[in-house]
Amino acid sequence: MAATRDQAWDTLTKYTSSESLLRHALAVEASTAAYARKFGEDEEQWRIAALLHDFDYEMHPTLDKHPQDGAPILREEGYPEEIIETVLSHAEHLSLPRDTPLKKALFACDELSGFVHACALVRPSGLAGLEPKSVRKKLKQPSFAAGVNRDDVYKGAEELGVELDDHIRTVVAALKPISTELGLPA
Ligand SMILES: [Fe+2]
Ligand SMILES: [Fe+2]
Repeated sequence: MAATRDQAWDTLTKYTSSESLLRHALAVEASTAAYARKFGEDEEQWRIAALLHDFDYEMHPTLDKHPQDGAPILREEGYPEEIIETVLSHAEHLSLPRDTPLKKALFACDELSGFVHACALVRPSGLAGLEPKSVRKKLKQPSFAAGVNRDDVYKGAEELGVELDDHIRTVVAALKPISTELGLPA
């Protein structure tokens, strides 16, 4: 039986109550889904992988457990191995190959969607009019959204084979329709 987006949302919310983690999941989901449409891939499966990628973070907030200790739970819940492998592959410390378009897209969207979200939060207009140039400028300010690993942002775009500016535009456009859910001006 194929997994559904609703099932992934149920799994995510069963293990996650933090609003910021739920917003992160939604942002990564929207961005990854935009690439599924761009590449003509299975959007629902891509959404599921994105929603689940940090599903265990609240109970496993350290890298000796996240995301590897979450994998058996996903297996128990019946998710396909491809989804589980994708979830595991977003973690740099596991050094797993990102050998599918979905794995590359998830990794590329993980840090950048958080960063774009942070950029929008400090702007009165939110995502409206947010240009790649200003996102890139903020990437060069280490103190801004310091938790976002810049190397992963650049590496993600490179592995996915997209120009950083195009990648930023895709993520901004993907997040716009869910502005309200992300706590941004609509
Ligand atoms: Fe993670
Ligand atoms: Fe993440």
